[in-house]
Amino acid sequence: MKKGLFLTIEGGEGAGKTTLIEGVVLALRAQGRNVMMTREPGGIPIAEQIRNVILDTANTSMDARTEALLYAAARRQHLVEKVLPALAQGDVVICDRFVDSSLAYQGYARGLGIEEVWSINQFAIEGFMPQLTIWMDISAEAGIARINATSGREINRLDLESMAFHEKVREGYRKLMAADPDRIVRVDAEQTQENVLNDVIAIINRRF
Ligand SMILES: Nc1ncnc2c1ncn2[C@@H]1O[C@H](COP(=O)(O)OP(=O)(O)O)[C@@H](O)[C@H]1O
Ligand SMILES: [Mg+2]
Repeated sequence: MKKGLFLTIEGGEGAGKTTLIEGVVLALRAQGRNVMMTREPGGIPIAEQIRNVILDTANTSMDARTEALLYAAARRQHLVEKVLPALAQGDVVICDRFVDSSLAYQGYARGLGIEEVWSINQFAIEGFMPQLTIWMDISAEAGIARINATSGREINRLDLESMAFHEKVREGYRKLMAADPDRIVRVDAEQTQENVLNDVIAIINRRF
């Protein structure tokens, strides 16, 4: 079986993940590689149906662990239906967020516990982890300011209140990197788009 390469891009809101991935895909394709870019739930109908349950505003009574289990279930389906087949045919798969998002957001920032969220995700992914994870590190203020600049509105009180949450997410990623420094590589996401992309391409080329 040919073996592809599984890369994930992580980081807080407005870090520039989606922007970066477009550039990485173009650069890798220019090197002659077959690249598939994806994001959860990745257009997989079963995973999308699960996500609709999570996002349904009628489900106000949803327990945090139920939510974590549903995210893990959607992740499983996306992995099996989309990521693994692409890797089996030798593609480079670049995924916008993966298991580390659950660990940083729900495990750490929401307080469910990184270990607990890790254990249910282990059941979902059966140890199948990316070979490389890029952590796009940005301060909460800078990331949210980018989002707000995009949507063309002022930063409001609610954004400011949630700033502590976004900082906690960042702290979560910091802990994840400390625990798995061979897999997770930090990139300074406050640089220009061009410099971020150059850093990431250099990291990928150095590795593979
Ligand atoms: N390095 C950068 N410097 C300044 N602005 C950026 C940079 N990267 C992305 N942006 C802008 O910030 C906003 C959020 O970027 P996006 O890629 O959607 O972030 P994410 O997917 O991590 O939430 C977009 O308007 C994008 O054009
Ligand atoms: Mg995005």
